[in-house]
Formats: sequence, structure tokens, C-alpha cells
Amino acid sequence: MPMLKILVGTMYGGALDVAEQVKPLFEDAGYEVAIVEQPTLADITGEDTDLALFCLSTTGSGDFPGNFVPFVRELQDKSPGLAELRYGLIALGDSSYGDTFCGAGRRLDDLLQDQGAQRLDERLEVDAMETFMADDAALPWVEAWIAGQDLKVV
Ligand SMILES: Cc1cc2nc3c(=O)[nH]c(=O)nc-3n(C[C@H](O)[C@H](O)[C@H](O)COP(=O)(O)O)c2cc1C
Repeated sequence: MPMLKILVGTMYGGALDVAEQVKPLFEDAGYEVAIVEQPTLADITGEDTDLALFCLSTTGSGDFPGNFVPFVRELQDKSPGLAELRYGLIALGDSSYGDTFCGAGRRLDDLLQDQGAQRLDERLEVDAMETFMADDAALPWVEAWIAGQDLKVV
């Protein structure tokens, strides 16, 4: 069974909730799913990871949540080369923060692509000004992502 890692960056648990809600959709599609709350680079470079999904909120002024900072530091320090990595990205933010809207998700996307990783489809940006529960936007997006990217393996 292929392995999907869901790497979470969260301050208040919204991004973790999204990860937990979408997990069964991937299980139904034939994946073993691991939700990673303290991600490290090894989670995406290991041979056991076939696909990655990032659920990442933004804090401060476009900053990464604290639990996600070690992952970003490692990514920047080691420049691992990620040509093998296919990933999706769900960014949580709030457009009332203006220019830094979904800043962490956008920066992560750039960092991953600098390393040659391949994002499948566009990133989803969930705006707390429009969507009270991020799951309401994330669940249909993931369903469409699995179907549209032909990710189903059973
Ligand atoms: C102190 C603070 C700073 C924030 N800064 C930003 C920001 O710069 N850009 C943005 O898009 N959202 C920002 N947000 C909004 C959060 O990203 C948004 O509420 C998100 O859904 C929180 O997800 P979480 O529950 O996973 O932490 C901020 C929220 C707080 C409380």
C-alpha cells in the first residue's frame, strides 16, 4: 500500500483538524496515511513516502507556525533536492492580514519547488474570512484532487 504523509503546521489546531478530516478520503483511495505533527525533512525524503500533503497555517506576519519551523530550517540548510517528491498543499490563512495572506503556505511552496519537488495541481488557500471551518473547503478540494490527479490506487 502506498504511503501518504500529511505534514501539519498549526498554531491553534485548524490545520491538524483538516488533516484528520481528509485522512479517510486517502484511506478509501488505497493509501496508508500518517499524520505528522512534528515534521522533519526525513518525512519527505524517506523511500517510504509516495506522496505528501501539507496542511499549513500562517501566523505572525506571514510566518510559519512554531511546530513547522524545524522542518523549514532543515529544508533550507540541507537543500536536499526533491525531484522525487509529489505533493499537494493546503494553506490556511486570513485575508484580513493583507499581503501576508497564506504567507507560510506560499513560501513553503516556493522552497519545495526550488528543490525540484512537483506540486500536483494548484495549492488550496483557505481564507478564514470566507470559510469558518477550513474542512468545508478542504474536503471537496481533496476529493477533486484525488480524482483529478488520478491518485486512486484501489
Ligand atoms: C497572531 C495571528 C497571526 C496571524 N497571521 C496571519 C498572516 O500573516 N497571514 C494569514 O494569512 N493569516 C494569519 N493568521 C490567520 C491564521 O492563519 C488562520 O486563522 C488559520 O486558520 C489558523 O490555523 P490554525 O488553527 O491551524 O493555527 C494569523 C492568526 C493569528 C492568531
